[in-house]
Amino acid sequence: MSNKYFSTIDEILNNIQNWQITTADDLEQFRIAYLGSKNELKPLMSHIKDIAPEDRKAYGQKVNALKQAAEEKFALFKEKIAEGAAKKQAAEMDLSLPVDLKMGNAHPISQMLEQVIGIFSRLGFVVADGPEIEDDWHNFSALNFPPDHPARDMQDTYFLDKDYALRTHTSSVQVRLMESSRPPIRAIMPGRVYRNETISARSHCQFHQVEGLYVAENVSLADLKQTLYYFAREMYGENTKIRFRPSYFPFTEISAEMDISCFVCNQKGCPVCKHSGWVEILGCGMVDPNVLENCGIDSRIYTGFAFGMGIERALMLKYRIDDIRLFFENDIRFLQQFKAIV
Ligand code: DAH
Repeated sequence: MSNKYFSTIDEILNNIQNWQITTADDLEQFRIAYLGSKNELKPLMSHIKDIAPEDRKAYGQKVNALKQAAEEKFALFKEKIAEGAAKKQAAEMDLSLPVDLKMGNAHPISQMLEQVIGIFSRLGFVVADGPEIEDDWHNFSALNFPPDHPARDMQDTYFLDKDYALRTHTSSVQVRLMESSRPPIRAIMPGRVYRNETISARSHCQFHQVEGLYVAENVSLADLKQTLYYFAREMYGENTKIRFRPSYFPFTEISAEMDISCFVCNQKGCPVCKHSGWVEILGCGMVDPNVLENCGIDSRIYTGFAFGMGIERALMLKYRIDDIRLFFENDIRFLQQFKAIV
């Protein structure tokens, strides 16, 4: 009697071992047969009462071993089939298909800075950097600002305490550079600057400038003009004309403002150039000998030129953007219009 039940177990074990599993379907059939809610192993335990008491232990162990064999086989083939499916999927993947990748882009200010840096680096200018929190000496005094200059007023400058302020221009980096290195010095200095302005479409309390400085023996106004002419043509197109208007900055002597021919209307007259045919893009001049001396550079041997331009302003002109606040609001609808303008 007992033997009958033992041989049933052997038969089932045989079936489990010989069950062919190659597809996910086979695996499912196997699962239903041996692990499902009405599986073949379930009735085996109910036969235990028909087994001779001395054989019951061995019988129970055999049933358990059977269950374990089914579970192990199932786990093994489940893994194999999953692996096979992944391999098949990889083999069938078409790597040449176009992808709809959502690519970001650099902020227009970063793109413009890169462009300006690129142009000047082709002329041998290196990039220099300075702190945004400055002392009076680097932001004003060394640059020849008289003690009563309006820029030193709380109205225009964010003072942090009596000694420190947020820099109002990148000209402060000129001073640091001249203090820490010897001519020839040829550098551009991009960075963020701060002014105590009411925020409006036209002005902001933070913006970006690029400062330029060239100090060496025999640097002349002609060098300044030629350098900026090259820049204007690279930046705004090869037919761009430039003109200089006399101006005043405490740190340059002589000082000028540079205009470029209006790239929007080709000097026919338009709202961008206010019908004058010219747009102002930067301030410049020959470094005042006092400034050279303040920085420990002998003004009898060396001369230099400097210039400074506003990046937001240049972008606003170029892309006819009428509100400076757009640069700082991070509105994706605005920013994504500047996909690779460079
Ligand atoms: N620092 C000036 C400003 O913020 C810009 C400037 C003008 C820089 C003339 C210069 C320069 O180096 O020569 O308005």
